[in-house]
Amino acid sequence: MDKKFTRTTVTAALIYANGPVHIGHLAGCYLPADIYVRYLRAKGEDVIFVSGTDEHGVPITIKAKNEGITPQQVVDKYYTQIKKSFEEFGISFDIYSRTSSAEHHAMSQDFFLHLYNNKNFVEKTDEQYYDQEANRFLADRYITGTCPVCANPHAYGDQCEKCGSTLSPQDLINPRSTLSGKSPVKKPTTNWYLPLDTLQPHIQKYISAHPEWKTNVLGQCKSWLSQGLQPRAMTRDLEWGVSLPIANTAGKVMYVWFDAPIGYITFTKQLCQQNAKNWEPYWKSEDTRLVHFIGKDNIVFHCIIFPAMLMQHGGYILPHQVPACEFLNLEGDKISTSRNWAIWLHEYLQDFKDKQDVLRYVLAANIPETKDSDFTWADFMTRNNSELVGILGNFVNRTLVLLHKYCEGKVPQYTGTHQAAHQDVIAKIQSVKAELSSAIEAYRFREGLNILMDLARAGNKYMADTEPWKMAAHDMDAVNSILYNSVQLCANLCIFMEPYMPFTAAKLQKMLNLDKKMWDEAGNMQILPTGHMVNEPQLLFAKLDESDIKPQIEKLNISRQAQIKKDDMETKTVEKTIEKTAISYDDFVKMDIRTATILAAERVPKTDKLLKITLDTGIDTRTVVSGIAMHYDPEHIIGKQVTLLANLEPRNIKGIESKGMILMAEDTDGKLHFVQPDAIINNGAEVR
Ligand code: 2FM
Ligand code: ZN
Repeated sequence: MDKKFTRTTVTAALIYANGPVHIGHLAGCYLPADIYVRYLRAKGEDVIFVSGTDEHGVPITIKAKNEGITPQQVVDKYYTQIKKSFEEFGISFDIYSRTSSAEHHAMSQDFFLHLYNNKNFVEKTDEQYYDQEANRFLADRYITGTCPVCANPHAYGDQCEKCGSTLSPQDLINPRSTLSGKSPVKKPTTNWYLPLDTLQPHIQKYISAHPEWKTNVLGQCKSWLSQGLQPRAMTRDLEWGVSLPIANTAGKVMYVWFDAPIGYITFTKQLCQQNAKNWEPYWKSEDTRLVHFIGKDNIVFHCIIFPAMLMQHGGYILPHQVPACEFLNLEGDKISTSRNWAIWLHEYLQDFKDKQDVLRYVLAANIPETKDSDFTWADFMTRNNSELVGILGNFVNRTLVLLHKYCEGKVPQYTGTHQAAHQDVIAKIQSVKAELSSAIEAYRFREGLNILMDLARAGNKYMADTEPWKMAAHDMDAVNSILYNSVQLCANLCIFMEPYMPFTAAKLQKMLNLDKKMWDEAGNMQILPTGHMVNEPQLLFAKLDESDIKPQIEKLNISRQAQIKKDDMETKTVEKTIEKTAISYDDFVKMDIRTATILAAERVPKTDKLLKITLDTGIDTRTVVSGIAMHYDPEHIIGKQVTLLANLEPRNIKGIESKGMILMAEDTDGKLHFVQPDAIINNGAEVR
């Protein structure tokens, strides 16, 4: 590792406490962070791993409104659930805290006040969107409209989830309040802005000092910089959030993206207080490596806005690395909470008890490090069966079974006979350690996993090439040497796999009867001394078959069907709204709509849909051909009072002159209903 750093502060994004955790979160942020931290710990480095929930902002208040509970109840409920999920999957935070705590409010207020007193903010009164019905300003997700970049009609005031653009409410085309659905008006209000425009040269300098950042991260930063940074409001007219530490600002709170990253600092302080340590070196010493693990939608906040806040404040180090990932898709589609297109961690564990490492493994193999990747259940099963069971589990099991069979479960003596047979595997163990270390240090976790699995592959090849079971009868020296090397390989695998699969590593450690070993003790063939007793082998992984994954695919199919239906309904609504342009009152009064009663009805021969209906209009008796035969039997509608567009031009339908149109309402299932007065009234009454 880079020797100029003596400690590392690792943060993982503060997920909004408004819903459970899914595999996309794990693959794109928490799993890579955990692999990195576990590796550093195994190296004996001074590292802290800090995270928690983001409990402010509009996502929380919207959830509260939808669930009919208070924002505090929302965050209490999801904080507990999220924390538990991460624990169950072995995400080894040193602290998992929350931004609604009093310590965090105090820390954010201190930070804000420092900038305020330094005159780092620009105070600006301007016109912001306001919902007159809900009596509130429409910040962030309280406002929706069409994205100016990709034309998505459901973009939010802070972000378009379709193209990922970061937006301001003013950018939206055809803005609407998400509270009332109404078009907002504009009202003046005062907010405090971070002058990113004047800070641009400093940010530019900072980012150009990090050419080693990932291409996807630098790409987003450069795109923001090339468009020219704009001042960004750090306060909001909202009730829920950290209140401002300045007079006469009731009804205003900090922008959630101002207080949330300060949460990393608060949580570090909380952690250090628990351990009676000084928190400041983790944020203020130049020899600290500050690393933020996040998803791609958080890049600008961690690479531009938070560094700008830290620069303005002074005394803090800036992020050294922001290894942001792209997104994980599921079965070819974007993961979506609202469409229930996700695999939720708590649900996975109900169906795949004790198989956390299988998911960790499959996700690590698919971390969206450079581009979006895809999780499929078929791949999950294949990787479990052919890689975990077939390669890793198989090698460990063969070794331990043979060790018990030929050596009474004791590590034998290495005599070095048939030297050439052992050469490859001995060389491999040395190179693997260096390669795996540099992959993890360069945040290339998928590559690291391949290196690890290659070692297990090499173990299997070694066994297959040397065939110790064939030599037992005549050359026990050779058998002993092969099994000695094989069990040392197992011990190395145990150390190397721990960052990726900690549960399996713990199981293997127990089987090998191995004390906890540090990374630096690996990479050689002397981990277990001759005579060391190992325990009885147990299978590390179990095979899966179609019946294990079929229910999962069915679950997704249900979500897909529900979505198709919803989309269909939405399309119909949109079609209906856009197909009808505004008409004048004069146009409306041209329609002569009257009440009428059905006197007779019969099917039109050779058609499925048409009924020939005779009506009493109060003025005349007339015939109308109506396309409702799929919805009503003729005998059941006689006597019904309906509404009739009486002055529609007569048309000849199947040889029958139809004079007018009976008005029908179509429900969301596509069924037609008569539009009737709420009481029987005289026929011929005008509808207007
Ligand atoms: O995108 C999100 O889920 C945000 N709550 C992430 C915040 S990360 C940090 F800055 F706190
Ligand atoms: Zn967009």
